Amino acid sequence: MKVPFAKRLACRLLMVTAGLVSGQQVMAADEVNIYSNRQPFLIRPILDTFTRQTGIETNVVFTKTGVAERLKTEGANSPADLVLTVDIGRLQELVEADVVQPVESKVLDTNIPAQYRSKENLWFGLTLRVRNIYASKERTDIKAISYEDLSKPEWKGRVCTRSGKHQYNIALIASMIAHHGEAEAEKWLRGVKANLAQKPQGNDRAQVKAIKEGICDLALGNSYYYGVMLTDENQSEWARSANILFPNQDNRGAHVNISGVALTKAAPNKANAIKLMEFLSGELAQRMYSEQNYEYPVKPGVQPSGLVSSWGSFTADQISLDEIAKYREQAVKLVDKVDFDG
Ligand SMILES: [Fe+2]
Repeated sequence: MKVPFAKRLACRLLMVTAGLVSGQQVMAADEVNIYSNRQPFLIRPILDTFTRQTGIETNVVFTKTGVAERLKTEGANSPADLVLTVDIGRLQELVEADVVQPVESKVLDTNIPAQYRSKENLWFGLTLRVRNIYASKERTDIKAISYEDLSKPEWKGRVCTRSGKHQYNIALIASMIAHHGEAEAEKWLRGVKANLAQKPQGNDRAQVKAIKEGICDLALGNSYYYGVMLTDENQSEWARSANILFPNQDNRGAHVNISGVALTKAAPNKANAIKLMEFLSGELAQRMYSEQNYEYPVKPGVQPSGLVSSWGSFTADQISLDEIAKYREQAVKLVDKVDFDG
């Protein structure tokens, strides 16, 4: 990103020197700079649509981790306007590092239900992902299940999951603490550990592969991976070996996490950045997210893609992600305490 920025700036300085543009126009570059954990193939088509509609260019730096530290180091000189990221944990890290600023927007408030945005307007959910339980078609015939069920003795040696420390599981465990209190959540987590077919390992898809291979009968995994696997010729048989179940439909609903966006404190292109945030929460972008990554739209009334809809509708846990975020630290400690990954 450095070279194009520098080039553009040099070009504008030349134009100013030549008296072609005023200083004010130099300040009003029509662009938005983004640090993103989301993969290029996923967001590029959505960003290009935004550029076609508005004339505002988007520059993206893809980073796997370390966005909060990077923004902290760059301080007021950061070229970044927005951070696009997955999971409430990553968004919370930005808040804790004090590198984001609030956005007051009627559009965002209308498009995004309150439980999926920060109370202080410091981050906003853009897509929803359910933490599902995948169940072997061959070795189970259950239609309903809860997260609590994963600790029941009938599932001994039959459950697979990735590391308890992974952000997806931390958010789920934090939600268990929020609903049941720490002592109950600890009992539950010990029960789940006792039921594991193998040491926590691999990613979410590896757990469904393990179902296909007969290693386990139940696995925790995010919803969009079902779509990713079904449409991948090498992985579709993993997905087809399992049913995707939406937990806790008889009570509070399934645990839902988000991908989201936050405005940086530095934000040199603040107005354009807010335009992009609003665009991403709008109907068109919401549909594109669901088509491309099999996620659920955060905006009420927008239908998910055909494939995602075919998994059926579900009730989502109504607890706010702000509330869940409060218990993340406790959840990390609990995972250590019960030696979940050991
Ligand atoms: Fe993921």
